[in-house]
Amino acid sequence: MGTIIVNCKNYPEVLGAGAVRLARAVKMASDELGVAGVVAPPTPTLSLVASESGAKVYSQSVGWEEGEKTTGAVVPAAVMAAGASGTLLNHSEARVPRGVLAKLVPRLAEAGLEVCLCAQTSVEAAELALLGPEFVAIEPPELIGSGVAVSRARPELVEETVKAVRRSGFKGGILCGAGIVTGEDVERAVSLGVDGVLVASSVVKARDWGSKVRELARSLR
Ligand code: G3P
Repeated sequence: MGTIIVNCKNYPEVLGAGAVRLARAVKMASDELGVAGVVAPPTPTLSLVASESGAKVYSQSVGWEEGEKTTGAVVPAAVMAAGASGTLLNHSEARVPRGVLAKLVPRLAEAGLEVCLCAQTSVEAAELALLGPEFVAIEPPELIGSGVAVSRARPELVEETVKAVRRSGFKGGILCGAGIVTGEDVERAVSLGVDGVLVASSVVKARDWGSKVRELARSLR
């Protein structure tokens, strides 16, 4: 079963109750197709989305602060208590130092949270795979939000990443993202060897969220 993760970022369409509606649409469309659908809503809506949508929910990131006296930090225990199943981590818009990742990923696993580690290069992806996350996602930063799909503009990057990550013995899912807009972009990505996609603007900005997810996820069945 392939995976589609929808990162809501902080697009105005999904601040507040919009995130719940989007998550319901993702859940309905992915259930219909028999695909694993995950939504990463804006952090302040995490609990609301998890309780009201029934969708599988990830945080967009977590902080690496430890303990209870951590004002303002998004700590793993709070993400867990909000009803999330996991988190994105090291996204290009929220990079995390490597030394921190090495300590944080095992802490997240201990807490029972899944992790999708984002990487900008195939070398970084293969290194991050060794930390044992559930997913590794390759996203060239220059194509994020561009509408030009990584699977069309940088097919060699996707192929290289799949090879490098599998060579490291990684058994989890490999995703790609950045600029993915159409069902055909996803089909191409699948033909390059990925297990799913990480998307944002094409879904959040679509007039009909459910139809867009159905279009993107069709080739992930
Ligand atoms: O996390 C997914 C994201 O960075 C890709 O963004 O808008 O190009 O689908 P977008």
